[in-house]
Amino acid sequence: MLESLQLAPPDPILGLAEAYRADPNPNKISLSVGVYKDADGKTPILDCVKEAERRLLADEPNKAYLAIDGLSEYATLTRDLLLAKCVEESCAATVQTPGGTGALRVAADFLQRCVGTSRIWVSAPTWANHGSVFGAAGLAVDSYPYMDDSSKGLNLDAMVASLSSIPAGDAVLLHACCHNPTGIDPAADQWGRIANVIRERDLMPVIDCAYQGFGDGLEEDAAGLRRIAGDGEAIVCSSFSKNFGLYAERIGALTVVGGGPDATAAALSQVKACVRANYSNPPKHGGAIVSIVLADRDLRSRWEREVADMRTRIRDMRSLFVEAMKAQGVDRDFAFILNQKGMFSFSGLTRLQVDQLRNDHSIYIVGSGRINVAGITPANVDQLAAAIAAVL
Ligand SMILES: Cc1ncc(COP(=O)(O)O)c(C=O)c1O
Repeated sequence: MLESLQLAPPDPILGLAEAYRADPNPNKISLSVGVYKDADGKTPILDCVKEAERRLLADEPNKAYLAIDGLSEYATLTRDLLLAKCVEESCAATVQTPGGTGALRVAADFLQRCVGTSRIWVSAPTWANHGSVFGAAGLAVDSYPYMDDSSKGLNLDAMVASLSSIPAGDAVLLHACCHNPTGIDPAADQWGRIANVIRERDLMPVIDCAYQGFGDGLEEDAAGLRRIAGDGEAIVCSSFSKNFGLYAERIGALTVVGGGPDATAAALSQVKACVRANYSNPPKHGGAIVSIVLADRDLRSRWEREVADMRTRIRDMRSLFVEAMKAQGVDRDFAFILNQKGMFSFSGLTRLQVDQLRNDHSIYIVGSGRINVAGITPANVDQLAAAIAAVL
């Protein structure tokens, strides 16, 4: 039965990571995979996480299954971090999921099977996996315009005009902050316009929050999602992969905001039925770590400092890169990179330039020209800028 199978196409980003690993050049640079790196090019384990793991190892009573919706303390702490009580407690319910991807997949199943949603609209461009995850659940995936190519900023008029023509009942995916891949986030007043059109058109907002704290701050980065979830139904898919550095532990959450307590309880029960039919119940370790850190005053403030350090380093690398490009004397102005938020930036490099960077300079960037700014370090920025100047 399996003889006729064709090879599936390799994942574009993870395939690039393999090519990077195989490259013998000692000066190779990877700006592809969406993982934070420190000034030494390492992905650190946060101090607060190490301390939480020490406590967990000393006190963990058993390895029994968690409930379908995971640890209840984790759910409460995560919900408060995201929503900060902008929604009545009885109108929001959270389940622990395997990463942000797990949350997105459960949201997709819930929309398709329980709500009867047939289509979701994502920004053009968006994280490549959005189309795969929602498509795999049987939803049609369509796109709305997002980026203004010339200014490399948000094209809000085009976005709102497109959202205004979407049929009622369709879902719309929004990035809460640190838009992947562009780094372009709406300003506060722009979130207001987006929220208004979503309510006027009776659309279901699905908010992907994978980088809280990497843009302007933990509170600031949740302002857009609170603006939307604070005035009606919403689904929030969040991840602690990046802001806790817990990539491999697969820890995220799905939060449903219902119109009232009964609707929220019904939605939670349906979400749990989707989970049961998918992975049954979530893994424990990441959720236990996050709960220990967020519930402990000292560990929580340590975490907030560590998130601030990551955020500051990324911002510093944006400035350093723009200065390094200026020093190369290239015509192109890269100042737009300073306005973008989070780890990613749309560099404007073409496919051909990206290929030349890889083949001639051992610099790995995804084909769309998206760069992971966290891959830049004071030690590699001049080499990077010189290579980009050469291919421009
Ligand atoms: C926009 C966006 N959403 C979701 C995810 C998934 O996060 P996780 O690794 O927690 O599944 C990512 C990861 O890169 C992302 O960039």
